[in-house]
Amino acid sequence: PQHVEGDIEKVLLTEDDIQNRVSEMAAEIERDYEGKDVLFVGVLKGAIMIMADLSRRLTRHVEIDWMDISSYGSGTRSSGVVRIIKDLDMDITGRNVLVVEDIVDTGLTLSWLVSNLRSRGPASVEICALLRKPEAAKTAVDVRYVGFDIPNSFVVGYGLDFAEKYRNLRVIATLAPHMYS
Ligand code: PRP
Ligand code: MN
Ligand code: MG
Repeated sequence: PQHVEGDIEKVLLTEDDIQNRVSEMAAEIERDYEGKDVLFVGVLKGAIMIMADLSRRLTRHVEIDWMDISSYGSGTRSSGVVRIIKDLDMDITGRNVLVVEDIVDTGLTLSWLVSNLRSRGPASVEICALLRKPEAAKTAVDVRYVGFDIPNSFVVGYGLDFAEKYRNLRVIATLAPHMYS
């Protein structure tokens, strides 16, 4: 779709794959949080699409807040050392927090984030991630809701970027090798 066919190597997940799974995840979340308040916390920027689609599948009220976080220092991200670019607007004391993410790659971002959020005294903190790469894990993260386990290759689309591009693809795909050079 969307004028980038030549950039893509392989579509891993179609629009239907994604939307069907997001719908199932929403139903599960709705059941689990029945009778409880829930605050969705999205991690900018990758989580924008899953947040939009997941939250709109719910038939109940949900509050939404965002954090923007970044790895320290030069070079590789996912160092595990994280700084907050934009903190939550809301106080999460006593709240049931569901962190909404596009992908768990090494797990370092979420591992840091969950311990940061837990230190604020919430009633609970759980994670929902559309994608997870089991082979890339550097730390164990307990992800309550996982959309798809995928192989350890670089993927873009549906929020996921390469150098800030491809976030607006409706599918999730691997990039053609010539795109990296
Ligand atoms: C990506 C992705 C996750 C994180 C996962 O975000 O959206 O937030 O990396 O990586 P990890 O499990 O190895 O820590 P990125 O830092 O690229 O920012 P972005 O969401 O703005 O693209
Ligand atoms: Mn991200
Ligand atoms: Mg990124």
